[in-house]
Amino acid sequence: MVWRNYWRIPVPELWVDILEKVKAAGFNTVSFYSHWGYHSARDGHLDFESGSRNFTRLFDICKDIGLYVLFRPGPYVNAEASAGGFPGWLTTGAYGTLRNNDSRYTDAWTPFMSEISKIVADYQITRGGHVILYQIENEFGNQWRNVDLKTPNYPAIAYMELLKSNARANGIDVPLIHNNPNFRTKSWSKDYSNEGGNVDNYALDHYPSCWSCDLSECTGTNGNVPDFTTYDYYSNFQQVAPTQPSFLAEFQGGSYNPWQGPAGGCVNTTGPEWVNVFYRHNVEQKVTSMNVYMLFGGSNWGQIAFPTVGTSYDYSAPITESRTIGEKYHETKLFGQFLRVARDLTKVDRIANNTGLTSTPDIKTTELRNPDTNGAFYVTAHTLSPSRDKTSFKLSISTSAGNLTVPQYASDIVLNGRQSKIIVTDFTIGKQKLIYSTAEVLTVSVQDGVPVVLLWLPAGESGEFFLSGAQAGQVKKSEGASGVKFSPVDGGTVVSYTQLAGSAVIDFEGSKFVLVDRASAYKTWMPSTSNDPFTAENSTVIVQGPYLVRSAAIDGNVLTLTGDWTESIDLDIYAPMSIQKVVFNGKTIRVNRTRYGSLLGRFLSAASTASSIKSQLPPLTKWKVSDGLPERNGNYDDSRWTVANHTKTPNPTPPATYPVLYADEYDFHTGNILWRGRFSNSNATGVFLSVIGGTGSGWSAFLNGAFIGSWLGSTSVTRGEQQLSFANATLNSNTTNVLFIIQDHMGKDQTSGATNPRGIFNATLIGGGTFSSWKVAGKAGGGQNIDPIRGPYNEGGLHAERLGWHLPGFDDSAWENGTPQTSSSNAGVKFYRTVVPLDLPRGVDASLGFVFSSPAGSKVRVQLYVNGYMFAKYIPHIGNQVTFPVFPGILNYHGDNTIGLSVWSQTTAGASVSVDWTVIGAVESSLDVGFDSTYLRPGWSDRSEYY
Ligand code: GAL
Repeated sequence: MVWRNYWRIPVPELWVDILEKVKAAGFNTVSFYSHWGYHSARDGHLDFESGSRNFTRLFDICKDIGLYVLFRPGPYVNAEASAGGFPGWLTTGAYGTLRNNDSRYTDAWTPFMSEISKIVADYQITRGGHVILYQIENEFGNQWRNVDLKTPNYPAIAYMELLKSNARANGIDVPLIHNNPNFRTKSWSKDYSNEGGNVDNYALDHYPSCWSCDLSECTGTNGNVPDFTTYDYYSNFQQVAPTQPSFLAEFQGGSYNPWQGPAGGCVNTTGPEWVNVFYRHNVEQKVTSMNVYMLFGGSNWGQIAFPTVGTSYDYSAPITESRTIGEKYHETKLFGQFLRVARDLTKVDRIANNTGLTSTPDIKTTELRNPDTNGAFYVTAHTLSPSRDKTSFKLSISTSAGNLTVPQYASDIVLNGRQSKIIVTDFTIGKQKLIYSTAEVLTVSVQDGVPVVLLWLPAGESGEFFLSGAQAGQVKKSEGASGVKFSPVDGGTVVSYTQLAGSAVIDFEGSKFVLVDRASAYKTWMPSTSNDPFTAENSTVIVQGPYLVRSAAIDGNVLTLTGDWTESIDLDIYAPMSIQKVVFNGKTIRVNRTRYGSLLGRFLSAASTASSIKSQLPPLTKWKVSDGLPERNGNYDDSRWTVANHTKTPNPTPPATYPVLYADEYDFHTGNILWRGRFSNSNATGVFLSVIGGTGSGWSAFLNGAFIGSWLGSTSVTRGEQQLSFANATLNSNTTNVLFIIQDHMGKDQTSGATNPRGIFNATLIGGGTFSSWKVAGKAGGGQNIDPIRGPYNEGGLHAERLGWHLPGFDDSAWENGTPQTSSSNAGVKFYRTVVPLDLPRGVDASLGFVFSSPAGSKVRVQLYVNGYMFAKYIPHIGNQVTFPVFPGILNYHGDNTIGLSVWSQTTAGASVSVDWTVIGAVESSLDVGFDSTYLRPGWSDRSEYY
């Protein structure tokens, strides 16, 4: 299992790409979070239609390609989303503290949850669809006030009951699940108590290597255990939910990257070896289902993110934000594809878990055995999971051919550092049994009734397998193995060998074995001709060679494949003997039958490379520029702005000064917020400002147009406080003065912090006088959602955003020429625009992005808009992200692209920012990224009412 969030890839045409990659990695189910705020810009308004808000296409694709669905609607989802997915309007405090049975909150979520349940209900397996599970709430492990004493927490129980009955009343009849945040909360399990709120399946979330790329964020929860420590889930499931499937509803697939995290993320802390050991460890723990968070993360585009993270949600996941795949994906695939064919694993007893089965105590083994078939799985790993030792050993196994110590002929089994192996016994393949194999099973694919068994080992290691009822085999292809030896034994033949780079093929009466090394296994694909998520062995073909195989279909003697490739490669295909013709992405591939029974073809066309694509991208040099912050000037006409005059607030954190200057209660929930405070007849010499914007936020202040100071921001401070002098400004002692503040809003906090305000907590004149009035501007139209396609999170209150300068079609002909490299020498905001045409080669999936740089010490806050979508927030003094991927569809690959750049210089040193294209990947592909996506990029229309 795996999951992704459709709202992090707001281009529905690309969903199929991700889902095909999920399927190709061997998964049978995919999980989606919804996002209430994404669908509800204001109370009483729901949108399940505009652009990517119509998510039912996901269900159709899943059904088409054979994936089940776990749907997780919320109402709270967390997910590193602003307010955990709660809409901004919900977070004012007017709906209470949230996530309880307060009727104000209940009335708020009921329409959303009812509607989403009704939509999903039609796609349930009970109605012919693929949705098999429904999760309510998220990491709400609040059933108990005291877990040990089982003291019920009634408001939380009542809330879960409300959510359950709402789902049921609106047609959800698949099992309900809930994901506990850790081992300690023990909530909502029927086996554990009869208290209310229980769901059908208890589940646990776990991030053994920290959910953040900044490992120090996890010391409080993961403790100070050594890196690469595995955990005991088995006891928890036995204690809390012994009769239920052991479900890891979130298991680490990577980590989010906070602002202070390393550029490019932290793929090394959860890299291929981590995948190898930790996923096998979950098998050892008798985990029944495991949902990888994330297999694909996506983008934190717009202002959808909560403050701690930037605009990337790459998550260091197996499928990158740019949709590319590499070693981590392939290692995940080895595991996923094995599980797909390890049919006996679906019902096992945990027989042993100790160091007694191996010839060394440095290796521990867990034996899992299917009571019906006697098929067993011996999960071997270093006794100390962080070990980097290379350890050789023999293993004692119990098989239908007797108790054996293996290997018997080959060199010992090796665990080379951070590695784990699952050694199967009595593994059924057709009419034969693999009595054991010390090499791991990659897959089994049945062709013309004959199982083709792929076994894999790191090159240089020795393997041994015992095939029941078999005579000596014939080595049909010898390049990939040395020392192949057939030893006749009672009941069959034992084959021992040393794996070399590449593959070797051995034919037996009734089966074919393909022995591959890890690198070849990474390039091996098992597409299915059926759309059954269980993917029967007789519905697959094996294709070795390309970057990706997405699909396979057989029609008569033609095998049609789709996929991606990056270079001239051989295709080695195991398919039925009747196949005479192979078509890959519409092109006929000349194939010959090999002596070892496969079809071998050669791609002759070399693909476009990243550098050839780069050379086709127009330079980003011709910019137009305009002042992006006229609001700072004393005479700016703010007559259309919202008067901020509340004298009391529902917010649980009341401000220090009044009126209330919390943006959410004036219907502004995202991005930059602009404030104008007036005062007159004052001898004030300065102002004390305390502004809440979340961690990493910043603000700048101006008096009558003159810059007086900034809070630059810090990744640990949510409220920036400064006392600023008016010495460098001109105070009008008789007429009105205007204090102008632009604040950056980084999103709203998660969990109980969702109601933390964004705005001015304290504005106090120093030296006399008080503010007579305040006005506020934010996103054009506030909750009116004037751009429903891009939606409520795309814009904030910047001048350029309010007037739509970021949108395609705005007329900038009257603007001056300029470049962001030689930008302002003042504090303030400049907005740049350029329009660049693209015409990229058809048939190439190019992943593009933008890369930023600025001189050391720059104090700038930069936002990038691509055809109106905010796709980058570059703040070099706060965060380390410099590369920002942008999806095709947001970019128009065959037409004009409007690029906007807002450069806010926070100091008088001014700003100089360089921005350029980067090509993150380019593969020849069946995926058409040149699709018509005009509907996703609505153009400018007059917005002067939001001036
Ligand atoms: C979990 C949560 C997810 C996500 C994850 C960290 O606790 O359920 O929504 O926030 O942590 O990436």
